[in-house]
Amino acid sequence: MLNLHKLWLLSCLGVIVVIILYFQAEIAHLEESYRKLEYKLTQNQFNSRQFNPNILQKDDNNDLIVIYNRVPKTGSTSFVGVAYDLCKKNHFKVLHINITANMHVMSLSNQYKFAQNVTKWQEMKPALYHGHMAFLNFERLGTSSKPVFINLIRKPLDRLVSYYYFLRNGDNFRPHLVRKKHGDKMTFDECVEKSQPDCDPNSMWLQIPFFCGHAAQCWKPGNQWALQQAKHNLVNHYLVVGVTEEMLDFISVLESALPRMFKGATEHYLNSNKSHLRQTSSKIDPAQSTIERIQQSTIWKMENELYEFALEHFKFVKRKVLMKEALSVPQTFFYEKIRPK
Ligand SMILES: *[C@@H]1O[C@H](CO)[C@@H](O)[C@H](O)[C@H]1NC(C)=O
Ligand SMILES: *[C@@H]1O[C@H](CO)[C@@H](O)[C@H](O)[C@H]1NC(C)=O
Ligand SMILES: *[C@@H]1O[C@H](CO)[C@@H](O)[C@H](O)[C@H]1NC(C)=O
Repeated sequence: MLNLHKLWLLSCLGVIVVIILYFQAEIAHLEESYRKLEYKLTQNQFNSRQFNPNILQKDDNNDLIVIYNRVPKTGSTSFVGVAYDLCKKNHFKVLHINITANMHVMSLSNQYKFAQNVTKWQEMKPALYHGHMAFLNFERLGTSSKPVFINLIRKPLDRLVSYYYFLRNGDNFRPHLVRKKHGDKMTFDECVEKSQPDCDPNSMWLQIPFFCGHAAQCWKPGNQWALQQAKHNLVNHYLVVGVTEEMLDFISVLESALPRMFKGATEHYLNSNKSHLRQTSSKIDPAQSTIERIQQSTIWKMENELYEFALEHFKFVKRKVLMKEALSVPQTFFYEKIRPK
């Protein structure tokens, strides 16, 4: 009898112990959940305060619009070829802007339409637009966002000679297309000797107006204001302007600044045999006397001033980006001392 009573008490005790243990475990579990939740909450607060440039860049860059207002005969076809090769893998669009009769200046209504269209066309973003058009200042055109401008610039005489032979002999890109001056066997030297219009130094007036833009003064050969404006736009409105002679570095700088679009571009350019895609056929280097004669012209001097200006600026940009300076670790930036907490 006594034993049975004891047994009953013992089992009651056992049940109570089990119940207590169960609740203790439950409480511990809840406490743990609570701690996890609290941790997540503070993490979230921290993240929203801490401006994470990587996350932001990813989101922002899906709206990226790059405009490459390419100057004829500066190696632009090679560069654009890289973009066309990468666009599928890097998920962006490349569009050629075909302006009637290759006019470099757009009418006012087309400027406005183009600016609105490019900035509002969501289905195309991110996108690289390229075409032979003068710089267009989007600030003037009341768009809500502004595209990023890039360009390449070439030594003015090299560009002129290349263009001269291109009109006569075409290139290896579209060898069967008959060019404007096809069949004309006159060399550049002879042309300069005879002071023909095709090698007139005035026809070197092209890179200045391309960077200067859509103002009337830009297109007056020898205009000093146009040169100053071109320099101003080059440093203030272009993300980067490379030189044809250093195409690989231009591509590397772009890859590091705009990886959203140009990731893998350097390697692609190095490994693809299309890197010299377009070469003017049967180009003859001009004689020293021809070079000297051209270099005496005001137009060459001014165009060359812009080229030298661009080159110095590009070298400066390149040093910082490609880390050829003493620094052994890549440059980064971050935010700190963010207040109020
Ligand atoms: C631009 O369009 C015109 C008319 O369709 C065409 O003849 C021309 O070849 C195009 N230009 C380029 C560079 O593709
Ligand atoms: C931009 O222009 C293209 C071609 O004219 C057109 O198909 C497209 O709908 C336009 N996009 C916007 C947003 O206006
Ligand atoms: C050039 O590229 C083509 C196609 O990608 C390839 O078949 C060919 O072997 C390459 N040539 C050289 C010299 O790399």
